[in-house]
Order: sequence, then structure tokens, then C-alpha cells
Amino acid sequence: MKLWGGRFTNRADQIMEQFNTSLPVDHRLYHEDIAGSLAHVAMLVHSDLLTPEEGDLLTQGLDSILHDIESGQLVIEGDYEDIHSFVEMHLTERIGETGKKLHTARSRNDQVAVDMRLYAKNKAIEVIDSLQSLIDSLHAKAMANNVIMPGYTHLQRAQVVTFGHHLGAYEQMFKRDKKRVGNALELLDENPLGCGALAGTTHAIDRDVTTALLRFAKPVDNFLDGVSDRDYMLELMSDFSIIMMHLSRLSEELILWSSQEFKFITMADAYSTGSSIMPQKKNPDAAELIRGKTGRVYGSLFALLTTLKGLPLTYNKDMQEDKEQFFDALDTVLDCMEIMSKMIDTLEVNADNMKAAIKAGFLNATEVADYLVSKGTPFRDAHEIVGKIIIYCEAEKKAIEDLTVQELTTFSDTISDDIYAYIDYENILTKGNKGLMKEIGE
Ligand code: ARG
Repeated sequence: MKLWGGRFTNRADQIMEQFNTSLPVDHRLYHEDIAGSLAHVAMLVHSDLLTPEEGDLLTQGLDSILHDIESGQLVIEGDYEDIHSFVEMHLTERIGETGKKLHTARSRNDQVAVDMRLYAKNKAIEVIDSLQSLIDSLHAKAMANNVIMPGYTHLQRAQVVTFGHHLGAYEQMFKRDKKRVGNALELLDENPLGCGALAGTTHAIDRDVTTALLRFAKPVDNFLDGVSDRDYMLELMSDFSIIMMHLSRLSEELILWSSQEFKFITMADAYSTGSSIMPQKKNPDAAELIRGKTGRVYGSLFALLTTLKGLPLTYNKDMQEDKEQFFDALDTVLDCMEIMSKMIDTLEVNADNMKAAIKAGFLNATEVADYLVSKGTPFRDAHEIVGKIIIYCEAEKKAIEDLTVQELTTFSDTISDDIYAYIDYENILTKGNKGLMKEIGE
């Protein structure tokens, strides 16, 4: 069933109908489609293009369709080209001839553009809320686990940090993501309704009315751009890709930390699975899936970038492909953020194992060098001296703090008893590196 057909003499091939329909994908725009139509009707009445009676009838019809969809009485399916055709044809079925006036001074090109902007706006707010929940989960876990752990570069133990500070790094990433999505939201907040197919309309419409009713900041400045701009989807999908990259890095850490090699954390059973053959296994599947799905979100971004790159102005049917990519990327990022929050909330920190890893890793070597500097040794010489101490410790199978002052003075006679306090792991954190504690409110 179509909204057009006057200039056609033959039916489309069945396979073409299936190929062309977007209803299986764009059905989720029903709310925005009806909201856009309600605003359009109000504007048409305001501009004397419809009588108030016609406006009332159309409004009631649209309201009843919305009600029936939401209550499950009207299922969005059937032989329709898209959600716009579905709503309009049901409207005419319900209220008769007046339904055919709904599309006055409008094209599906500005209709789909306004539907998608409204949808993207609402969903961007949902993404921001979800980022905040994730930040809250990380913050709570960080506060409750302000325990000492090894910090890494090159995945080699480097210096002491706290688990709280480590999680705090991810908090910062997700805070930046929130700002990024907020910026995209600000840019997309323009109303394309009224651009028509591409060149506006000869009817005296008032775009300010729909702009106010749909709560957009302003109408778009250019009609051609208004119907063919998909930048905001690309921008949001870039933001989703960065969020996924952050989630993936965190997932990778959770996978490493929960391995037998690290044993820094224990993941809740609820987000792990077992092996069908190896009874001892508890696999971090949720984290692995998040890491895996990152590629899928990047893929959606690249698919849409590629779809758009050669398109002349203005609307081209290629653009129908935008929704599948956008919806998939959006659903994926929302799911992954929720699962990550829950994984963070429920994981247990094995503080003793983190502490043991510090002891075995010479993580106070840099502070031994700092100690020597504080006694007047130039840093490069201090670095060299500590290197030699490490070789000695490895041979003796001892940590630096386990050496006696006598042993230590063989490397530098500036060393005395006060070195032990200086290189004590907890002291390093509380004394020297105050910034490490700041993140978690110390
Ligand atoms: N389903 C179409 C899309 O998503 C709606 C716009 C159709 N416009 C057109 N001129 N055929 O892009």
C-alpha cells in the first residue's frame, strides 16, 4: 500500500516492494512521526491551510493511532512502504477524506528528517543519562576500594596507584563522552520540518510554529541542507564509537584482572559463563562481548559515512540506510553501558593480590631514585644506582625494602634508615602522590 501511484500504470515487483520497504526498521519512529504530524496539523490550522474542524479531526485521529499502537491494539506491520505511509493510511481509514489533507505542504523528505532529529534528540539524552549511571557505578566502586594496586605502562608493573584512581581514569573518559554527546545534541537541535521535498512550499506556512511545538531551538537555515543533513547521526555515532572504545578498554582490563594470572578482581557469576567442556572455567563473557561489539559500532559509523560520501543534494533513497546503522549503534552502546555498570557494581576487589603484585614488582624503584635525589644525587646517577640495586634484589630474591641499610649503603653512602618510610608503598600514595587520592575525594 502506497501514498503514490497516480503516475504509475504497473505494480512494482514483489521483490522490489520488499527491497524498498523501511517499515521493519523505521516502525520505531512511530511516536516521533505522530508528534511531527500533530505539530504540522496545528501549524496548518494556524496558517489557515486547514479549518479548525479539520485540524481537530486530524488530531483526534492521530491521537487514537498513537493510543492504539501504545496499547498494543494496532500492530505496526503490513504492506506499507514506511512508518509515514503506515500512519497516514491508517489515519485516512479512520477519519475518512480529511486524512488526505495531512500531507499538505509536507514531503516525506522533511518528515523523515524531523522524525529522526526528534528521535536522535531523545536518545542522546538517554545516552547521557546512561553515561551518568556508569560514572556513578565507577565512583561508588572507587570510593569503596581505595586500595593500593600496581599501575602499568606497556603492561609492565610501573608504579603504585590505587584501584580507585584507576577506575577514576575511566570516570574521566565517560565524563568527556557526556560532554561530547551534549555538544552533538546542541548542534542537531534544529527543525527541518517545512523544507518540503527540498525547496520549501508555495503555501504560506510558518516554520516557527512547528519549531516551538516540537521544542527545537530554531528552524534550519537552508532547505536543501535540512532534508539531506545526516551529520548529527554521524556525530552521535562517532561519540558512540568513542564510548565503545572506552568500554572496550575497561572490558579488556576486567578480563585481564579476573584471569588466574592477575586475580585482582572476581566478577559476579551473573555476568560470567561456564565452559561446556572445562568444568573449572568461569569466563568473563559480558566483558568480552562488549569488547567484541565495539567493532560493530565502528562498522555502523563507517557504513553510514560511506553511504553518504557520494550523494548529490538533496534527498536520495540511499539515505534510508541511515536508520539501520544508527539504531544498531545506539542499541548496542546503550546495552553495553548498562551491562558495564552492573559488572562494575558487582565485581569484588582482591586487595591482597594487588598488594602482593606490588611487592613482587619493585614498584617503589622510582621513589628510591627520588630518595637519592633528595639526598643530593643527580637523577640520572640515581636511576643508574637503583638499576644496580634491582639486579642485586633479583639475584637475592628480595624486594628493595627487604634489604638492610648495610646492603643499601654498598650502592650509595647517602642512604640511611629514613629510606624505609620514604619508599613505603602506602606512604608513597599518601605523601608524595596526593593527586592519586584526589579522584576519589581524599
Ligand atoms: N523511508 C524513507 C527514508 O527513510 C522515507 C523518505 C522517503 N522519501 C522519498 N522521497 N521516497 O529515507
